[in-house]
Amino acid sequence: MKILVLNGPNLNLLGTREPEVYGHHTLADIEATCVAHGATLGVEVSCAQSNHEGALVDHLHAARGTMDGVVLNAGAYTHSSIALRDAISAVQLPVVELHLSNTHAREAFRHVSLIAPVCVGVIQGFGAAGYPLALTALHVHLTGRRP
Ligand code: DQA
Repeated sequence: MKILVLNGPNLNLLGTREPEVYGHHTLADIEATCVAHGATLGVEVSCAQSNHEGALVDHLHAARGTMDGVVLNAGAYTHSSIALRDAISAVQLPVVELHLSNTHAREAFRHVSLIAPVCVGVIQGFGAAGYPLALTALHVHLTGRRP
Protein backbone atom coordinates (compact mmCIF):
# COMPACT_ATOMS: atom_id res chain seq x y z
CA MET A 1 0.00 0.00 0.00
CA LYS A 2 1.24 3.45 -0.94
CA ILE A 3 0.06 6.75 0.54
CA LEU A 4 1.03 10.27 -0.50
CA VAL A 5 1.33 12.89 2.24
CA LEU A 6 0.80 16.18 0.42
CA ASN A 7 1.29 19.57 2.05
CA GLY A 8 0.26 22.92 0.62
CA PRO A 9 1.28 26.56 0.91
CA ASN A 10 3.41 27.87 3.77
CA LEU A 11 3.72 24.45 5.39
CA ASN A 12 7.39 24.39 4.32
CA LEU A 13 7.83 27.05 7.03
CA LEU A 14 6.60 24.81 9.87
CA GLY A 15 8.81 25.10 12.91
CA THR A 16 9.17 28.85 12.57
CA ARG A 17 5.69 29.76 11.25
CA GLU A 18 3.39 30.90 14.10
CA PRO A 19 4.58 28.12 16.44
CA GLU A 20 1.85 29.04 18.95
CA VAL A 21 -0.67 27.91 16.29
CA TYR A 22 1.21 25.23 14.35
CA GLY A 23 3.74 23.93 16.87
CA HIS A 24 7.51 23.56 16.74
CA HIS A 25 7.87 20.54 14.46
CA THR A 26 9.40 21.20 11.06
CA LEU A 27 7.95 19.71 7.90
CA ALA A 28 11.02 17.45 7.71
CA ASP A 29 10.22 16.15 11.24
CA ILE A 30 6.62 15.50 10.23
CA GLU A 31 7.58 13.76 6.99
CA ALA A 32 10.06 11.51 8.83
CA THR A 33 7.33 10.62 11.36
CA CYS A 34 4.95 9.80 8.49
CA VAL A 35 7.47 7.48 6.82
CA ALA A 36 8.23 5.74 10.15
CA HIS A 37 4.55 5.42 11.09
CA GLY A 38 3.73 4.15 7.61
CA ALA A 39 6.33 1.40 8.06
CA THR A 40 4.54 0.21 11.21
CA LEU A 41 1.35 -0.10 9.14
CA GLY A 42 3.06 -1.72 6.16
CA VAL A 43 2.46 1.44 4.13
CA GLU A 44 5.03 3.06 1.87
CA VAL A 45 4.70 6.81 2.42
CA SER A 46 5.78 9.41 -0.13
CA CYS A 47 5.83 13.09 0.79
CA ALA A 48 5.49 16.26 -1.27
CA GLN A 49 4.90 19.94 -0.61
CA SER A 50 4.17 22.90 -2.85
CA ASN A 51 3.19 26.51 -2.40
CA HIS A 52 1.47 26.47 -5.81
CA GLU A 53 -2.12 25.45 -6.42
CA GLY A 54 -1.47 23.98 -9.88
CA ALA A 55 1.49 21.95 -8.60
CA LEU A 56 -0.76 20.45 -5.91
CA VAL A 57 -3.27 19.55 -8.63
CA ASP A 58 -0.40 17.92 -10.57
CA HIS A 59 0.62 15.89 -7.50
CA LEU A 60 -2.96 14.64 -7.12
CA HIS A 61 -3.09 13.68 -10.81
CA ALA A 62 0.24 11.83 -10.50
CA ALA A 63 -1.12 9.94 -7.49
CA ARG A 64 -3.79 8.33 -9.64
CA GLY A 65 -2.63 4.83 -10.48
CA THR A 66 0.51 5.11 -8.33
CA MET A 67 -0.91 5.71 -4.83
CA ASP A 68 -3.73 4.09 -2.88
CA GLY A 69 -4.70 7.28 -1.06
CA VAL A 70 -3.63 10.74 -0.01
CA VAL A 71 -3.31 12.65 3.27
CA LEU A 72 -3.74 16.29 2.27
CA ASN A 73 -3.05 19.43 4.24
CA ALA A 74 -4.07 21.94 1.60
CA GLY A 75 -3.32 24.91 3.87
CA ALA A 76 -5.21 28.05 2.86
CA TYR A 77 -6.26 26.47 -0.46
CA THR A 78 -8.66 24.39 1.67
CA HIS A 79 -10.82 27.47 1.96
CA SER A 80 -10.54 28.75 -1.61
CA SER A 81 -9.64 26.15 -4.21
CA ILE A 82 -12.33 24.71 -6.44
CA ALA A 83 -9.46 23.39 -8.60
CA LEU A 84 -8.17 21.20 -5.74
CA ARG A 85 -11.66 19.99 -4.96
CA ASP A 86 -12.20 19.06 -8.62
CA ALA A 87 -8.82 17.30 -8.73
CA ILE A 88 -9.76 15.18 -5.69
CA SER A 89 -13.05 14.24 -7.35
CA ALA A 90 -11.32 13.56 -10.67
CA VAL A 91 -8.63 11.19 -9.38
CA GLN A 92 -11.12 9.04 -7.46
CA LEU A 93 -8.65 8.33 -4.66
CA PRO A 94 -9.53 8.38 -0.97
CA VAL A 95 -8.21 11.63 0.50
CA VAL A 96 -8.05 12.50 4.21
CA GLU A 97 -8.15 16.25 4.82
CA LEU A 98 -5.78 17.26 7.59
CA HIS A 99 -5.06 20.43 9.54
CA LEU A 100 -2.64 20.99 12.38
CA SER A 101 -4.93 23.57 13.95
CA ASN A 102 -8.66 23.30 14.66
CA THR A 103 -9.87 25.57 11.88
CA HIS A 104 -13.33 25.82 13.47
CA ALA A 105 -11.82 27.49 16.52
CA ARG A 106 -10.21 30.17 14.35
CA GLU A 107 -11.30 32.98 11.99
CA ALA A 108 -14.66 32.54 10.23
CA PHE A 109 -13.01 32.29 6.79
CA ARG A 110 -11.30 29.08 7.96
CA HIS A 111 -14.60 27.45 8.92
CA VAL A 112 -15.43 26.59 5.32
CA SER A 113 -13.60 23.76 3.57
CA LEU A 114 -14.24 23.42 -0.16
CA ILE A 115 -12.50 20.04 -0.17
CA ALA A 116 -14.16 18.35 2.83
CA PRO A 117 -17.22 17.15 0.84
CA VAL A 118 -14.99 15.14 -1.51
CA CYS A 119 -12.69 13.74 1.21
CA VAL A 120 -13.33 10.54 3.17
CA GLY A 121 -12.81 12.36 6.46
CA VAL A 122 -11.09 15.20 8.27
CA ILE A 123 -8.53 15.21 11.09
CA GLN A 124 -7.68 18.53 12.64
CA GLY A 125 -6.62 20.20 15.86
CA PHE A 126 -4.03 17.66 17.01
CA GLY A 127 -0.91 19.40 15.71
CA ALA A 128 1.78 17.23 14.17
CA ALA A 129 0.22 14.15 15.81
CA GLY A 130 -2.59 14.49 13.28
CA TYR A 131 -0.39 13.14 10.47
CA PRO A 132 0.12 9.63 11.88
CA LEU A 133 -3.53 9.68 12.98
CA ALA A 134 -4.55 10.49 9.39
CA LEU A 135 -2.34 7.70 8.04
CA THR A 136 -3.92 5.23 10.45
CA ALA A 137 -7.40 6.49 9.49
CA LEU A 138 -6.66 6.10 5.78
CA HIS A 139 -5.22 2.62 6.40
CA VAL A 140 -8.42 1.66 8.24
CA HIS A 141 -10.48 3.09 5.37
CA LEU A 142 -8.48 1.18 2.75
CA THR A 143 -8.28 -2.17 4.57
CA GLY A 144 -11.37 -2.17 6.74
CA ARG A 145 -9.05 -3.24 9.55
CA ARG A 146 -9.09 -1.55 12.94
CA PRO A 147 -5.73 -0.26 14.25
C1 DQA B 1 -3.86 24.79 8.16
C2 DQA B 1 -5.08 25.66 8.45
C3 DQA B 1 -5.33 26.64 7.32
O1 DQA B 1 -6.44 27.46 7.63
C4 DQA B 1 -4.11 27.53 7.12
O2 DQA B 1 -4.33 28.39 6.01
C5 DQA B 1 -2.85 26.75 6.97
C6 DQA B 1 -2.63 25.62 7.85
C7 DQA B 1 -3.51 23.88 9.35
O3 DQA B 1 -2.77 22.91 9.15
O4 DQA B 1 -3.93 24.13 10.48
O5 DQA B 1 -1.99 27.09 6.18
O6 DQA B 1 -4.16 23.95 7.05
